[in-house]
Amino acid sequence: MEIKILSASEIKMRFTQFSDLLIDVVNGGGAVSFLPPLARETADQFWERVIDDVATGHKILLAAMIDDQVVGSVQLALMQMPNQVYRAEVQKLLVLNAYRQRGIGQALMVKLEEVALEVGRTLLILDTLQGDSGERLYRRLGWTELGVIPKFALIDEHTLAATVFFYKHLVG
Ligand SMILES: CC(C)(COP(=O)(O)OP(=O)(O)OC[C@H]1O[C@@H](n2cnc3c(N)ncnc32)[C@H](O)[C@@H]1OP(=O)(O)O)[C@@H](O)C(=O)NCCC(=O)NCCS
Repeated sequence: MEIKILSASEIKMRFTQFSDLLIDVVNGGGAVSFLPPLARETADQFWERVIDDVATGHKILLAAMIDDQVVGSVQLALMQMPNQVYRAEVQKLLVLNAYRQRGIGQALMVKLEEVALEVGRTLLILDTLQGDSGERLYRRLGWTELGVIPKFALIDEHTLAATVFFYKHLVG
């Protein structure tokens, strides 16, 4: 398994693999902005926006690859306002269901921190569904909980679930 930063054109080249990844995660119950069943058209539109953000330098995308196949990814959204240029938000940590629990999620996050430091982003923030595998992963990696907002996001048409907000300073 290798973890790479992908350019906008490299994401385009693997467009179907990225849509497959998002569909697999959402339809498998992953709480990442969308509700199942996720249509391919909606997934494609999402990745079109990511490609634009990467092309304009607003985001960095890391992909976990096995045999040239995308099995996971994570995005770093770089804050653009002048007083926030040291800050970035971690978004959409995704690992294919079939490749979970072998350290890919953790490896993506460890690499993401290295990349964030390289581009001068020393404070990272993120939020994640309370009680999920993601929450345990972030705690293991030393993220600090800021707090929990109850009933923050829909996890199905009728149920609002709590979200935990975390931050991590990469330098003292
Ligand atoms: C959160 C997510 C990215 C984690 O991906 P992952 O690749 O399974 O993560 P890891 O393998 O690093 O860790 C997951 C678990 O596997 C365990 N693990 C890691 N390597 C292992 C191995 N070799 N053998 C057995 N277990 C292992 C970890 O200890 C961890 O256990 P825990 O959940 O009980 O704490 C994945 O579950 C996912 O895509 N979820 C849906 C989307 C989501 O919620 N994203 C986060 C919010 S944006």
